[in-house]
Amino acid sequence: MTVPCRTQNFICVLFFCFLDVENIINISQFLRNMLSKKKLVIDFYTRMMNKMYSIFGDMPFIKQYWPFILTGFLCYLSTRIFYSKYASQDKKKDIINSTYQTPDEIAEISENNSDDTQNDENEECDDDYQPSLPSDLEHIPLNYDRISIDETIDRSNEFYNFMNLRRTVRHFSQEDVPIEVIRNIIRTAGTAPSGAHTEPWTYVVVHNMEIKKQIREIIEAEEEINYKKRMGKQWTTDLKPLKTNWIKEYLTDAPYLILLFKQLFSFKNGVKRMHYYNEISVCLSAGLLMTAVHYAGLVSLTSTPLNCGPALRTLLNRPSNEKLVLLLPVGYPAEKCLVPDLQRKDLSEYTIEML
Ligand SMILES: Cc1cc2nc3c(=O)[nH]c(=O)nc-3n(C[C@H](O)[C@H](O)[C@H](O)COP(=O)(O)O)c2cc1C
Repeated sequence: MTVPCRTQNFICVLFFCFLDVENIINISQFLRNMLSKKKLVIDFYTRMMNKMYSIFGDMPFIKQYWPFILTGFLCYLSTRIFYSKYASQDKKKDIINSTYQTPDEIAEISENNSDDTQNDENEECDDDYQPSLPSDLEHIPLNYDRISIDETIDRSNEFYNFMNLRRTVRHFSQEDVPIEVIRNIIRTAGTAPSGAHTEPWTYVVVHNMEIKKQIREIIEAEEEINYKKRMGKQWTTDLKPLKTNWIKEYLTDAPYLILLFKQLFSFKNGVKRMHYYNEISVCLSAGLLMTAVHYAGLVSLTSTPLNCGPALRTLLNRPSNEKLVLLLPVGYPAEKCLVPDLQRKDLSEYTIEML
């Protein structure tokens, strides 16, 4: 049987594609070991050639062009070995020398360097680093009014009862809200703590109906695929009691859509500034935003449009260092709006007290 040339080409490409770096390194180590044992090599080579001939005997393309294929393979092999060796060295260097390491990288480096050499090196380079905040930052007295313990108890209780009324709303009235209210709500969100005071959030406020329609189009198209293909049976089954689906009327009904982006890093005076714990900081800010929405007598819906981040980022002209975290429609609830009758866990179910 003669295998067509195109199939043989395809087999060759597949062969190269499926060889990952580790396999190549293993093969090269194996070959090196073999070279140290000449007789074995000759034996192995003869057997290999026989085997190859029995496999590729019916493949004239491979039979004719095997020296080129072999050369190509050897070039590929040496490039990959060279690349993997130097790329991994560069990556290690980057991690060690960069001004920013993620908490996981820090943990990894300290685990791998149980001796203190690394720390000594870092101490030597201290003068090369400049803080993002002013180095002569003044420390001022805390603006704090002490209240009585009775008032503290009352306030904590009142606030809990108030916050316990917050609900996620999926049916919005089209009634407008003054932009000033939205600005104050976002100002409140901006008071959130952030890793090293990097304030890694961008709030995009959309009131324009045309843009809201485009956002809805993007989200509904993706959500239909999410619900039908990506999320899987368990997830969609878990969502059934909440009566959610890919039709999102609230995206055009609510007067405002607030899209919250996390900034992975930023530039200040041309210097790259890393944003530590950017996702945690942004989520804390979102918590304050929702609290402020509730306090202002409005409602919101915390949503995470799956797979829509890049399209929405492009639509809203956000740079590539920003990633969409949440989208919150904000406004008044629709008349006779229903919400699922959910019960919240009791304090004892999620608190461990060590008093
Ligand atoms: C991270 C996160 C993502 C969420 N994503 C969605 C969403 O995409 N669509 C939706 O309708 N609700 C979403 N919700 C809302 C939850 O379903 C809602 O908070 C939960 O059912 C509890 O209801 P409650 O907020 O009224 O207490 C999300 C909530 C969180 C915290």
